[in-house]
Order: sequence, then C-alpha cells, then structure tokens
Amino acid sequence: MNNIKLHDKEFKPLIKADEIDKAIKKMAGQINQDLEGEKPLFLSILNGSFMFTSDLLKCITIPGTEVSFVKLASYEGTSSTGSITELIGLNQNLNGRTVVILEDMIDSGKSIAYMIALIQKEKPKTIKLATMFYKPKAISTPLTIDYCAIELENDFVVGRGLDYDGLGRNYPDLYIINE
Ligand code: IMP
Ligand code: MG
Repeated sequence: MNNIKLHDKEFKPLIKADEIDKAIKKMAGQINQDLEGEKPLFLSILNGSFMFTSDLLKCITIPGTEVSFVKLASYEGTSSTGSITELIGLNQNLNGRTVVILEDMIDSGKSIAYMIALIQKEKPKTIKLATMFYKPKAISTPLTIDYCAIELENDFVVGRGLDYDGLGRNYPDLYIINE
C-alpha cells in the first residue's frame, strides 16, 4: 500500500481492507443473532456510510430487513431561528420499528446524538447504533454504541467512505494523515 495525496495533505496506510471487512462481518453476525425475529430497518447516514452500509448489509440474513438512506441538511431559517438542521430522505414510517442507525465514524458524538434525537421523535420501538469506526478518546456526548467494528485513536483518517474535503471516500483501505 502506498501513501496517497488528497488536496494539500498526505495520508499513509493505517488499516487494510480485509481487516475492516472481517470486523464488519463479525458485527453482521452479532446483529443477525441479536435481531433475529425482528424486521429491522437499517438507516444509513449519507454520505460517509455508503460503503459500510453495502458491506454490512451483504452479510445481514434477517428476513424482513429493509434499508433506507438519510442525510442531515442545514439551511438558513428566519433571522430568529438562524441555521436549521433537519433530516432529509426519510420516507418510511419509523413508528414501532426496530431501527439500526449506520454511521461511518463517531468522533465527538455530536452529529449522531443530534440524529438520534430526530429519529426518536418518529417513535420507533428501539434504536440501535452501529458504527464502522469510533474514536473513544474524542467522545464528548453520552452515547450508547451498540455495535462498533473498529476503535481508533484521535487521528484524522480517510478511505472506506470517509473523506478529506470531498476526496478519499473511494479507497477500500483506511489511511491516516501523515504529519
Ligand atoms: P462527530 O459529530 O464529532 O462525532 O463527527 C462525526 C462525523 O465527522 C463523521 O460522521 C464523519 O463524517 C466526520 N469525521 C469525524 N472524524 C473523521 C475523520 O477522521 N475523517 C473523516 N471524517 C471524520
Ligand atoms: Mg458522517
């Protein structure tokens, strides 16, 4: 594996694709066991989770499995409300559903905590949180992470869906910033 250059920064290899594949397969096995008999709705958070979602869902064998893609979008509200962030793309009724949120990376945990609060308003039966990567030393919000494929140190990484200013999402391996 070689270093890669994205915009002005160089990144070096950190975790090989096959190791990430194995960790995701293991997670899928656990989810298949835990959610047996449910009809889970996997809610993939775009853009970063597209590759994780594809890899995980190929290994989910629970009958009645569904997948949907959502995104947090910010827009300017009225002058009194300032900038508003809302969930877009949600076209399923979540009421009474077993929802599994799929996130690429939990860093401070703020984005996912915000997302969970929005999803909770839809009154699902349960919400499970599954993340491909997690930086435990960066977390600043109380969160229950039900499934995590790989824990990382507090460094900036790209690949496997994660980007640096739009670039790097397509790499199957994970790269760390070279400083
Ligand atoms: P949080 O709100 O701090 O948990 O941020 C989570 C989001 O920030 C993730 O969904 C990623 O999109 C992005 N992010 C956090 N750490 C990294 C990283 O190391 N590389 C690329 N994106 C990251
Ligand atoms: Mg993200």
